[in-house]
Amino acid sequence: MKEAIFLVLAASIFWLAACTPNTNLTYTQDIAPIIYQNCTPCHRSGGAAPFSLTEYQQVYRKKKTILAVTQSGLMPPWPADRNYSHFLGERFLSDSDKDKLKRWIEGGAPEGNLSLLPNLPPYPEFSLIGKPDTTLWFDSILIKGDSKDKFYIATLPIELSENRFVRAMEFLPNQNNLVHHMNGRLLNYDEGKKANIKSGKRLLNLETNEDDYLQQFNALDLANDDGSRPSQINSATNYLPGVQAQLYPEGIGGFTMQKKSILLADDIHFGPIPQDKWDRSRVNIFFSKTPPTRPINEVMMGTNGVTKIIPPLVIPANDITTHTTFLKIPQDISILTINPHMHLLGKSFKAYALTQNQDTIRLISIPKWDFRWQYFYTFPKMLKIPAQSVIYVEATFDNTNHNYNNPHNPPKEIRERLDNGGAGMRTTDEMLQFIITWLPYQVGDEKVSLAPN
Ligand code: HEC
Repeated sequence: MKEAIFLVLAASIFWLAACTPNTNLTYTQDIAPIIYQNCTPCHRSGGAAPFSLTEYQQVYRKKKTILAVTQSGLMPPWPADRNYSHFLGERFLSDSDKDKLKRWIEGGAPEGNLSLLPNLPPYPEFSLIGKPDTTLWFDSILIKGDSKDKFYIATLPIELSENRFVRAMEFLPNQNNLVHHMNGRLLNYDEGKKANIKSGKRLLNLETNEDDYLQQFNALDLANDDGSRPSQINSATNYLPGVQAQLYPEGIGGFTMQKKSILLADDIHFGPIPQDKWDRSRVNIFFSKTPPTRPINEVMMGTNGVTKIIPPLVIPANDITTHTTFLKIPQDISILTINPHMHLLGKSFKAYALTQNQDTIRLISIPKWDFRWQYFYTFPKMLKIPAQSVIYVEATFDNTNHNYNNPHNPPKEIRERLDNGGAGMRTTDEMLQFIITWLPYQVGDEKVSLAPN
């Protein structure tokens, strides 16, 4: 009998614990500031994430998954190891914030005193970096609702009355929670080189079969009239979830845009959706009155780049392979951003420089590769790499069925696929790339902050 009473008592204590908050942490006072700071930049209407976390009810409903993804470090997404190197805009929860979220959720996730709720920070709608001088639109794209990833090359012909200096270009999709990445290159047509820049098709679906592919790529009609290639500005604008376009300090970066140019979105990757949707992406352009005094250079290592991959990027089925690539730096340089790139088989990635005296300059380590978050990592200040240093990249690929992103089940041999005439690669092929943007070093560069001003 005593035991029975004890059990009933224990059960009701348990019941009480489950239903009444047993934490003095509240949403309005303790949790909303953490969410506003770390989550709602993406989890809001029009943000990069597929659902909002701007209201208490939305956070409350998702509390179990929120607990899981914040404790595991999956959210906020920041795959680079913060113990290895630091970048601008790092997204992470401090141990104390993680702990608060855990105690609050496990304690019943109470809302608290409404009068203590802070205001949601203002989020700009049509630009994340300022007021553009002009906005141009890509054609609309119908994204089929067949729950598969979609890859497109899209073009946007641009005609100006004169050549202009561009400080920054900002690509913004309107279905931004569907776009996983976009790499934009600007093709500049020199005077008299191309009569009609609007003659080509505006869209190429990259999931076409290989035979049609070249033909379709040619239909974009990107070459000069004499068949030669126009000059191009790589990474004129890039888009990745949660990443904003870069406005460097005045004088750094920027490029010239010819009167006639084509912005080549190569490629745009849309995530899978169950229903058809239209996307219409915009491009904000920020002109500059002065020519870029220190134009940014870009060097690409690995696939399609200036360095060989060793051993060659062939990944046998059911194997895990590691590959390296390295580049000797002939002059002192200042690095601004770095962008590691692999596809679905990527497992880990590391890059560093070794100076002539064998000092290591850490660049980046991504212990658990996630193809969804391929940021252009910007150093807080320019990073000097002295002449004669060697930049090393080490990347591991997992082609087993333990890799749940493996596009093939059972796994099959995957190889690198090289660029055929400026065309993009498919995600089911592999790549190993490391893109570095840099300037020739000038005294004092290591003190120049790259934070948006
Ligand atoms: C850089 C943008 C970004 C930030 C910041 C961000 N998220 Fe996310 N989140 C996403 C995207 C995009 C997805 C969808 C992931 C996908 O499609 O694979 C997602 C998915 C999720 C999911 C669902 C995961 C699942 O497995 O179903 C949860 C829960 C979540 N986020 C919570 C949070 C919380 C909590 C924070 C802040 C601590 C946060 N996120 C910060 C972009 C972001």
